[in-house]
Amino acid sequence: MVIKLKKQVIDVLKNLKDKKSDCLASELASELNLDYIVVMSAINDLSDAGLGGFKEEQIEQISLNAEGQSYGKNELPEEKLLSIIKKGKLKEMSVKDLLEKSKLDEKIFYIGLTNMKKNRWVAQSKASGEDKVFIITEEFPKTELKKFMEKILDNNNVLDYSGLSKEEIIQFNILNKRKLIKRERRTQRIIYLTDKGKKINLSNVSELKQESKITAEMLSSGSWKDYEFKPFDVSKPGPLLKGGKIHPVINLINEIREIFISLGFTEIRGPIVESAFFNFDALFQPQDHPARELHDTFYLSNPKVAKLPNKDRVIAVKETHENGGDSGSLGWGYEWDENIAKKTLLRTHTTATTIRRLAQYYENNDISPIKVFSIDRVFRNEKVDKSHLAEFMQIEGIVIGEDVTLCDLIGVISEFYKKIGFEKIITRPGFFPYTEPSMEISVYYDKLGEWMEMGGSGIFRPEVTYPWGIKNPTRVLAWGLGLERLAMLKFGRKDIRDLYINPINWLRRESY
Ligand code: PHE
Repeated sequence: MVIKLKKQVIDVLKNLKDKKSDCLASELASELNLDYIVVMSAINDLSDAGLGGFKEEQIEQISLNAEGQSYGKNELPEEKLLSIIKKGKLKEMSVKDLLEKSKLDEKIFYIGLTNMKKNRWVAQSKASGEDKVFIITEEFPKTELKKFMEKILDNNNVLDYSGLSKEEIIQFNILNKRKLIKRERRTQRIIYLTDKGKKINLSNVSELKQESKITAEMLSSGSWKDYEFKPFDVSKPGPLLKGGKIHPVINLINEIREIFISLGFTEIRGPIVESAFFNFDALFQPQDHPARELHDTFYLSNPKVAKLPNKDRVIAVKETHENGGDSGSLGWGYEWDENIAKKTLLRTHTTATTIRRLAQYYENNDISPIKVFSIDRVFRNEKVDKSHLAEFMQIEGIVIGEDVTLCDLIGVISEFYKKIGFEKIITRPGFFPYTEPSMEISVYYDKLGEWMEMGGSGIFRPEVTYPWGIKNPTRVLAWGLGLERLAMLKFGRKDIRDLYINPINWLRRESY
């Protein structure tokens, strides 16, 4: 029976038959002047025909790095220093002169000096008042280190680590400490012929004219009839598409949006430029609260003052701060200043947006239940580093309902995290000036086996809801969760800035 094989495959087969032994794929590639990939694909064809195959072996190779190669070919720093002293036919020299003459970088000079002493070529002494080196031997045989370096270079700058002698391992360790050598693990492929391959008579093998593409020329000349066309392998991955794609963070935002919508929520948006009133005052945050300081909040000079809601609502908020108003609280007991509430700022949390929804609830005479969420940008005056950004996104939401409880709140939040891929969440008591009780939320991150903090939540205090006419038994469950933290876990990024500086390789892999 005649077997048809491509030309390179026949070449590889012939070569292996002549060799009568197994050989390294890389060696055969250089011998036949073929690409490694071509040889491996030929072996695959031989293996399909039952004529050959390959096995893999892990090896560790060592080779000198650029600096090591140059020392091996020329002089190690200690050799260079020695030549300088010898050249001057000197027996001694001051360290300062030697350093100057050598023109070596100081660090390398001292490495050389130390090794000259280790080799017992010179001694160093300050006895004469000057720091000097003295030659203390007459013979300078080639060091074991240099011999070893030359051996590596003579072998095309690679040696098999497992083939090193005990003495050579000592020299390897010295070179490794001096950062002149690398040790790399590699997979090496050994190719062989099967018995059938060894026995096959080459006269039973003929050349297969195979093409992968049909050309216009083949069509017009009719030569396509002489060719066999390579079948498509639909199991192989196609080329990576590098066109425009949706950014992974946008995909994640859309996924989160879908989840809340599927849970019956409606999306709300609010202004980025906010009043201190909605960002802080309506959240019962006292006007001297540290979070209001410039180092936490970006205040704006233009527009300088914000419009406040209807006078009666402003007064209701003012009274809760001063004496608790009708909320049953004692308030903070200070004189509330409307001008501070009118300051403009970049919102520091999207809780400002949910309070706007409470104001609307009052104005529209809405009825509960109401479930809304927002995924939006907030700003804080923070130093940017691998875990902090000065502008980031929050996943915020509220449920306004009669007799809703903390269990409902935990339920919504765990359902959300479950849908996004985190099965386990834990809630711990927390503190926010506007919720009581308050909870911190963490999710369990399998890959690290750690709990990661994700955000805060709680039930809005009466001081927050009463000014908007939301009174017992109607309550407001609220939460604010970090988006970027979640994105980092989902995408396995260790640096939060990666999400916005757009590392191109990551985007190509992650986007779709
Ligand atoms: N606003 C809080 C933050 O930015 C989160 C939060 C929202 C806490 C709603 C409780 C209720 O960290």
